[in-house]
Amino acid sequence: MGTLTSERSSELQSIVWDSSSLEVAVMIEAELTKVVDDGRGTIRDIGLHSLNAGGKRVRPLLVWYSGLMFGAPSEALKRTAVAVELIHMASLIHDDVIDGSELRRNRPTAQKNWGCHRAVLGGDFFFAKAFGVLAETGLVKTLEIMAQAVQEMCRGEILQAADQFNTGVSLERYYERITKKTAVLLEASCKAGALVAGAPESEAETIGRFGLNLGLAFQITDDILDLCGDEAKMGKAKYADLTKGNITLPLALLLKEEGYRDWINTVIKEREFNRAQLERIESTLRESGAIERAFAIGAAHLEEARKILSGFADSSQRRFLSDLTYMLQARAN
Ligand code: IPE
Ligand code: IPE
Ligand code: MG
Ligand code: MG
Repeated sequence: MGTLTSERSSELQSIVWDSSSLEVAVMIEAELTKVVDDGRGTIRDIGLHSLNAGGKRVRPLLVWYSGLMFGAPSEALKRTAVAVELIHMASLIHDDVIDGSELRRNRPTAQKNWGCHRAVLGGDFFFAKAFGVLAETGLVKTLEIMAQAVQEMCRGEILQAADQFNTGVSLERYYERITKKTAVLLEASCKAGALVAGAPESEAETIGRFGLNLGLAFQITDDILDLCGDEAKMGKAKYADLTKGNITLPLALLLKEEGYRDWINTVIKEREFNRAQLERIESTLRESGAIERAFAIGAAHLEEARKILSGFADSSQRRFLSDLTYMLQARAN
């Protein structure tokens, strides 16, 4: 397994499920470690801490397999996969500063270990590193796609900040937030992978729409799990969105129900978030059917993603992408 620890190798094995995709995951992992290991001092420590803590590496796998739908494996595809995970890593380091989160991937976050100042600079460094990797490889179009995606992520986080504790937030606005914050980067991963491998623009757009739908389901699932997931499996604190006033899909659905609207509105506005109250909110979300409906909305995006894939000829890479949608569905249950 090259330079990887046996713990990380078996973790990767639980994410990918056949020997060829395991090989891909290990190859990307080794390349990522090499790039981060090249840094110095605190920046290197922050990067290795984040990498070694784990993570699913969904975005680089999307780059790789979207690429293989249209062309052969290449160094450029590998560099694109590495760059997108560096972007994701940087965005999580910053996201944890913004959210004041202390736990990620079952480990202390960068801001908890090194403080906000260093965490912000570490995140900046890895954004710059990602663009450097793409520039070095001459991947100008990919650079443009990723630069656009990062701008959208910033807009999404700003929208989220603007809507905190706004119980009147519309479903449209929630969708805009999660599209920008999360789904656009998954779309960019698929699109860039396809283009690097030589896909025509229109086909790259189509596989991008697969990534976009997967990304929407991805964030919807993450938002649901914040309210009713198993903390140990999530590797991060539960009820974190709720206590910070982020009105996510299940809450937005509950706020539309006449029988619950006034109660949940008051609870959120008054910020009554002791443990008993949080658990009461969770059981109300379950009893009212809001959780179930949010899952169904996520599942519809996964269905749409699979429908998009079915427009392509059958291949092992198409099957990998399709399996990824089922894996996400299983994660939710
Ligand atoms: C976490 O992304 C942030 C969201 C977009 C919900 P991932 O769930 O891909 O995080 P890791 O990389 O696997 O830890
Ligand atoms: C996703 O938002 C973070 C990014 C897209 C950068 P969250 O705030 O929901 O992510 P977690 O829950 O902290 O992983
Ligand atoms: Mg967060
Ligand atoms: Mg979250």
